[in-house]
Amino acid sequence: MSYETITVEQRDAVTLITLNRPKALNALNSQVLADLTDAFAAYQADDTQLCAVITGSGDKAFAAGADIKEMSEKAPADFYLEDFFSPWTSEVVKKTRKPWIAAVNGFALGGGCELAMMADFIIASENAKFGQPEIKLGVAPGMGGSQRLTRAIGKSKAMEMCLTGRMMGAEEAERANLIARVVPHDSLLDEALKTAAQIASMPPMATIANKEMVNAAFETSLDQGLIVERRIFQILTASEDKTEGMAAFIEKREGNWKGC
Ligand code: HXC
Repeated sequence: MSYETITVEQRDAVTLITLNRPKALNALNSQVLADLTDAFAAYQADDTQLCAVITGSGDKAFAAGADIKEMSEKAPADFYLEDFFSPWTSEVVKKTRKPWIAAVNGFALGGGCELAMMADFIIASENAKFGQPEIKLGVAPGMGGSQRLTRAIGKSKAMEMCLTGRMMGAEEAERANLIARVVPHDSLLDEALKTAAQIASMPPMATIANKEMVNAAFETSLDQGLIVERRIFQILTASEDKTEGMAAFIEKREGNWKGC
């Protein structure tokens, strides 16, 4: 399937989604979000695809935010009546039960930072810059930035970033636990695809289960989260892949996964 504002490639079991508006630093307009919604639904529905990577085209940006030109032309009521970008604040992310990684190759600002934070984890190039500069435009984060950034890096740093609009470099982002790893700029995509291929080689049902458990830590109390973990663990013990995985370990061979 082809899209107007993104490209999608399948590399074995890994889907690579590239934001493709390099002249506008991959700013997220309504068409990008619509294309991404379709691409993520297709990824989720395709049983051959087991991990996804999202990155930005060009050398400079992952995404420099929501498209300011588009936003500047909207009437105030439109934002409310369209429920501007609402699918991306939670629904698309919740419906995507399979894992996806953000490979951040440059600016990840405003909605770009928010999109990266929706991913299961972020791998960043040493050139990456994260920020929530919306305050400088007279607005504020609107796709989860104030919530996800605060949960990721804590109140003090998140508050400072939202109130000053300053950018955070990749090394600081790694120290602050915003990202999983910093890699050299030129090897970012290789590293992200290699990590995605490693995830895609795992038993698929256990992958979804691990993702669900970790996410439960953000939605529940510790007690409830521990129950979610135990129940999912117990369900996995009934899977064919559990029998295969344990047999493969004992027989010193690779597992041959069925995904059930
Ligand atoms: C539309 C954008 C854009 C954006 C950059 N461009 N960011 N267009 N929306 N968010 C365009 C510029 O207009 C310019 O187009 C081209 O990309 C290159 O950008 P420059 O500014 O010339 O590049 P540079 O000087 O290197 O500066 C890079 C930058 C700067 C620091 C990233 O572009 C910048 O500050 N951008 C805005 C970042 C931002 O405020 N993001 C938050 C948006 S609000 P032309 O045609 O002039 O060459 C948001 C809210 C989310 O995200 C909530 C939604 C519900």
